[in-house]
Amino acid sequence: MITSKELRQKYLDFFKTKGHTIISSASLIPENDPTILFTTAGMHPLVPYLFGEKHPAGKCLTNAQKCIRTNDIDEVGDITHHTFFEMLGNWSLGDYFKEEAIAMSWEFLTSPQWLNLDKNRIAVSVFAGDNDVLFDQEAYDIWENKIKISKKKIAKLPKKDNWWNPVDSTGPCGPDTEIFYWVGTSECVPEVFDSNNSLWVEIWNNVFMQYNKIAEGKYELLKQRNVDTGMGLERILSILNNLNDDYKTDLFSNIIFKIEYLSNKKYNASNEITKAMRIIADHLKAAAFIIADDKSITPSNTNQGYIVRRLIRRAIRYGKQLGISQVLWIKEIAKIVAHDYASIYPEVQKNINFVIVQFNKEEEKFNKTLEHGLKKFVELTNNKTIDGIAAFNLYQTYGFPIEITQELAKEKGISVDEVGYKQELIKHQKLSRTVLAGMFKGGLINALPETIKYHTAVHLLLAALRQVLGKEVIQRGSNITAERLRFDFLYNEKMTKEQLQQVEDLVNQAIKQNLKVTCEELTLEQAKQIGAIGVFESKYGERVKVYTIGQDQDNNVFSKEICNGPHVKQTSILGRFKIQKEESSSAGVRRIKAILD
Ligand code: ALA
Repeated sequence: MITSKELRQKYLDFFKTKGHTIISSASLIPENDPTILFTTAGMHPLVPYLFGEKHPAGKCLTNAQKCIRTNDIDEVGDITHHTFFEMLGNWSLGDYFKEEAIAMSWEFLTSPQWLNLDKNRIAVSVFAGDNDVLFDQEAYDIWENKIKISKKKIAKLPKKDNWWNPVDSTGPCGPDTEIFYWVGTSECVPEVFDSNNSLWVEIWNNVFMQYNKIAEGKYELLKQRNVDTGMGLERILSILNNLNDDYKTDLFSNIIFKIEYLSNKKYNASNEITKAMRIIADHLKAAAFIIADDKSITPSNTNQGYIVRRLIRRAIRYGKQLGISQVLWIKEIAKIVAHDYASIYPEVQKNINFVIVQFNKEEEKFNKTLEHGLKKFVELTNNKTIDGIAAFNLYQTYGFPIEITQELAKEKGISVDEVGYKQELIKHQKLSRTVLAGMFKGGLINALPETIKYHTAVHLLLAALRQVLGKEVIQRGSNITAERLRFDFLYNEKMTKEQLQQVEDLVNQAIKQNLKVTCEELTLEQAKQIGAIGVFESKYGERVKVYTIGQDQDNNVFSKEICNGPHVKQTSILGRFKIQKEESSSAGVRRIKAILD
């Protein structure tokens, strides 16, 4: 029996002994990256460094990163899928490459001193090559000749399986080699590895990131060769404990226990019950983490807020299916999440009151919506059948799951056109996938130079706001696209026209003066001592970057902030700064929207 805490620490300790610096998990909400809504892998916060920017903690890094993935939300409910999960990762930013990376993965997995997994139950896959990029002979040879894995346990697979890209679009990418573990019995390990057999479970991915995808089928070499790896903590924990179900690990057991208590049902009572409990546990944990993140996302109808809303509502629906009858029950799950993760990710505990308020509000709202849906349902019962479109509308507009519609219809002795409903659903899902794909079209790489400018503009804006409104102005969050910036800050009043003009003028002066942007690496203490502003919660005492804009001979500066960058080198490249809007974002928080032209 190994606990999640022990396993996480073991991973970090192992890579520390191999010369890696442990870095803290970044926020779930990507900083200044308009192409994605959430951090979906440990590499996301590292993108600038994969392109060659210098990381303050060095070239070899390791961490456990909080991640949110929503692309297979409909698969949550089985034994391995999660919306929120932790990714254990190690990185080489232009340092070691394939041979060392593979050797370290193998040592960590199989050495008796570390995870001690059975070597016979391990198989791997490497990139087979195609028209764009050659077969990864190097990785193949390392597995066969250095690690001495049988040829039959090395699969050569195409891009669809053995190539890793951040968002399926442009950006740093490369061939990967994936490591699989046989979760069937040890007596029946097949001699030949077949990646289609679901008893071979992927446990670790080593990406050799040496390409930059600039367009479909167009790749250029990156300045440096990187290694990006990822191992899902939940899955490896379940394997090490022979549980064959991530939801039975200590990362979920207390939550499941609470759901059992609230519903007065047992987790294993039936497949439907197990699935509902997994969905509730997964979705509410994810929602609690997103709301507790320092960007203070709340349920809404757009972007991250929409995902939170969807997660919470889906959990409530499954709660109804389980027969949970307490009012405002979902906060009970948030409390467990806060407690269980307190020593690893203290933010949920720290912001638990905020999370509870948001959970309660959303639950109340959704219950009202459901009430309206019930009225609508009664109108429909004049007919003998509820057709597909009507059933879909109940789901879409009122959040009625088809199961509830079916149940109610049965009570009234009428039928539901299930096939018609499914057709509508598929039509709609196709549509929303297209919309989502559109969001990513721009791609990381095209957006990068513009977002860097906006990133520097945000520093100038904060400094100008502090000059005009006073030092109590504190940044609350920022959101940057290639076209505009949005900046939230703590301040109690609406800004006057004059104040806005002053702020805009100050920023434009700083741009005109073509101030120099410089960067230094310091410990957090040193950074605070020299008056750098910014929040940076460091658990491991890593070094931080401080960006200074416009330091003169008398040491006067325009701006000094702790920040990971990147930034422009001189301000004149920003062009003209224009504030478009100043409005309230939430109680005590103002929001400015501005553009550069
Ligand atoms: N970034 C790689 C993944 O998520 C390691 O699989």
